Formats: sequence, C-alpha cells, structure tokens
Amino acid sequence: MKNNQSERKKSSMPLRINKKSFLGVLSLITQELFESISTKLKLKKPKEDEVLINVRLKAERNNPNSVLSIIDNYAYKKTFLMNIGDEKGLLLEKAIKESQANNILELGVYLGYSTIRILKNLDDNSKLTSIESNKKFAEIASENINIAGLSNKHKLIIGKSTEVIPSLKEKYDFIFIDHWKDLYLKDLKILEENDLIKSNAWVFADNVILFNLEDYLDYVRSSPNYKSKFIPAKREYSKSHPDGVEISIFKNEV
Ligand SMILES: C[S@@+](CC[C@H](N)C(=O)[O-])C[C@H]1O[C@@H](n2cnc3c(N)ncnc32)[C@H](O)[C@@H]1O
Repeated sequence: MKNNQSERKKSSMPLRINKKSFLGVLSLITQELFESISTKLKLKKPKEDEVLINVRLKAERNNPNSVLSIIDNYAYKKTFLMNIGDEKGLLLEKAIKESQANNILELGVYLGYSTIRILKNLDDNSKLTSIESNKKFAEIASENINIAGLSNKHKLIIGKSTEVIPSLKEKYDFIFIDHWKDLYLKDLKILEENDLIKSNAWVFADNVILFNLEDYLDYVRSSPNYKSKFIPAKREYSKSHPDGVEISIFKNEV
C-alpha cells in the first residue's frame, strides 16, 4: 500500500496550465481530488486498478476495439483518465497509417490505451517501443495490451525517458510524445542529439493546448528542421474543453 501511494504521488501530473484551457484543467483537478480522497478513505480502488478489473472481466480477447471501448466507457462514465481519448486517438491512428511508419517510439504509456491504438494499425514489418516511468502503470498497460492480442509487435521499457533515450540504438520514423509536459522539448532535443530521428519522421505531440507547451510549439514551428501543423480537437473525454495535437515532420535540413 505504501509503495502504491508513493508511486501515485510520483506520477502526479506537473501543472503548466494554458490560460486558454483553464476550465478544462480545473475540471481535471476537481476529478483528481475526488479520486484521491476516495482512494485514501478506501471508498474505492485506484481508478487504474478498476480499469484493469473491467478489462479482465469484460473485454473480448484479441479484440483491440473491445479493450479500447471498455477504457473509454470507464473514462466517460466514472472518472477522468489521462489517455489520448477517442477523438484524438483517431487522429493518432490516421497519422500512423498516413506516415507508413514502421519503427515507432512512444513516450508515456499510462494504461496502454494509445499503445493499443498504435499497435492495431501496424503491419507485420512494423514495431513499437514505448517508455513508461511508472512501474505499476506499465504492468497494467502490459496486461491490457496482452488482452488486446497485440504484445508481439511491442517492447515496453520501464524507466525515465530522459535516461532511457540515449541508450536506444535504432532510428524512429514516428514519435508519439505524451508524457509529462515539461519534458516534451527536452526529450525531443535528446532524440535529435542522439541521431534517433529518421528524415521525414513524424513527431506527434498530444495536449498542446490543454497545457502550456509554448516552448515546444515555438521550437517545432520555428525550426527549419520541422514542418509543423496544429490540429484542434477537444480534450480527452470532454465535449467542450479545447485541446489539440501538433504534428511535426522532421526534415533534418541543417
Ligand atoms: C498522459 S499519460 C500517457 C497516456 C497514454 N499515452 C495514452 O494516451 O493512453 C502520461 C504518462 O507518462 C508517464 N511519464 C511521465 N514522465 C515520464 C518519463 N519521464 N518517462 C516515461 N514516462 C513518463 C506517466 O507515468 C504517465 O503514465
């Protein structure tokens, strides 16, 4: 229990709120507060455990859409989950297909929701490597991905992205960034410095409006190395709060 609590404390999301999305973030904080009080008072299990129990009980084996819909259903009906969600999740799937990427890197896994959305679109020659710093989340994600029948094209590394990235050996042609927001730019630069981004690779960043990611956006929009575009969308599991994703194609021209 003590371990779980310290894991949860370590995993709390650093807040860099974008003024434009104040209400979106406020609603998240309220739900997180309610969740934290309920679990501390032992009124309920942590939401991540509840999601896994639901997936174990209700998901059809080897059916990725069945696992995704159980997770979405929980987030809409019970409490917020920091997955990319169904609306932006479809943008991610479309980008994976259009890019025809075959070596993909994901930063931030949580319960494996976006991982499943990526993996279900890969052919036999493609693979995904994901990095997640929270051991408990990584274990839950592994089981969700396994139930979805998608473990064979996937490698999950438990560790902090900034420390893991320099040890990676292959170049990537699609990078999905969705971990803590203060690391987006830092880790992108570490990927560049270690020559891990293929020319014409797609870099897909989530939550660029919900949180204050101006440093990241300034960089990809002004660097001659990237051709970048913003796609507006709603925050995960919300019909009104603004958010969006930034897709930046790495040209490596300088
Ligand atoms: C927004 S959630 C990821 C959601 C997931 N991409 C999805 O859409 O289903 C962010 C995750 O990043 C993880 N994380 C935070 N900092 C990290 C780091 N430095 N390295 C790896 N993972 C990290 C957190 O533990 C959390 O599980």
